[in-house]
Amino acid sequence: MQGKYCGLHATKVTTNANSPSLSFKANTVKEETALEDKCKVIAVANQKGGVGKTTTAVNLGVALGKSGKRVLLIDADPQGSLTRSCKIERPDDLDVTLSELLAYEMSGDSKDMFFDDPIRQFENIDLIPSNISLSGTETALFNCMSRESVLKRAIQPLRRMYDVILIDCMPSLGMMTINALVAADSVIIPCEPSFLSVKGLDLLLHSISKVKRQINPDLKIDGVLMTMVDSRTNNARDITRALRDAMGININVFNIEIPHSVRATECPNVGESIFTHDPKGKVAEAYANLAQEVIGLERKAQVRPRPYGVR
Ligand SMILES: Nc1ncnc2c1ncn2[C@@H]1O[C@H](COP(=O)(O)OP(=O)(O)OP(=O)(O)O)[C@@H](O)[C@H]1O
Ligand SMILES: [Mg+2]
Repeated sequence: MQGKYCGLHATKVTTNANSPSLSFKANTVKEETALEDKCKVIAVANQKGGVGKTTTAVNLGVALGKSGKRVLLIDADPQGSLTRSCKIERPDDLDVTLSELLAYEMSGDSKDMFFDDPIRQFENIDLIPSNISLSGTETALFNCMSRESVLKRAIQPLRRMYDVILIDCMPSLGMMTINALVAADSVIIPCEPSFLSVKGLDLLLHSISKVKRQINPDLKIDGVLMTMVDSRTNNARDITRALRDAMGININVFNIEIPHSVRATECPNVGESIFTHDPKGKVAEAYANLAQEVIGLERKAQVRPRPYGVR
């Protein structure tokens, strides 16, 4: 199947029941704006490796899907861990990935570039996969106009098709992660209860505030999410308490903590979310509760009064 990216809606045949329908018709500008406003783009970011970013993107995505949200995951990491976790065993064999979307966006006026629809299905949600070619794309971003906002422009047509877009960032603060922060409305920061992970948050918060100041003033931090928490150890309890004190009222630390569980480590191997692999386990329960907390944040943001009616 060949499809031009702009015609994505017309060529899409593999979406989930929750997902946008095939026959998505062009709306009036007013309707489109309303639908775009409804979509929330969340970057799952932390430059520290192995803190649970990918696990959170998959399981929060599936949990939001279970709550009736139309969800798209975007793998913004050339390691392709999210892609693998979503049961695509050999990401490097894929011809169409996030790289092609970004290349299309960077191509400027050569808008005649064609490629297949990149969107794949996983359980009840959709995915734009990635593979090693994304590292070449990241290098290409440096020579491109408005290089920080290429991803934002590339996913703009998708905003009207989904309620939530989750971007799984790579463990770095390079150009791809900056693009994710510019494209996002908010950030979720997974963090392990370890001294070094908590120390590393300063660097990330600094980058977020720089992006907010210079490019994306509306960027919000949804919260720091403690992952792989072994509540039996004093260390995990002490670090979590210290983090809550340090963040104070300025930065939310989610009430929900994701417990450590061997069942969660098995998920990427079998290409299943925790809801399929261990539906009755404590990690599934925690991610389901996190989804409700995230939905709650969205509702609060919607009812917050705006001074002078300014958005
Ligand atoms: N709640 C959990 N309990 C036990 N193991 C977990 C849990 N969450 C994630 N893991 C495991 O920890 C490892 C790192 O998780 P994950 O890949 O999600 O981190 P990441 O931050 O995306 O890593 P990277 O920085 O490399 O992208 C994986 O092996 C994963 O299966
Ligand atoms: Mg990852």
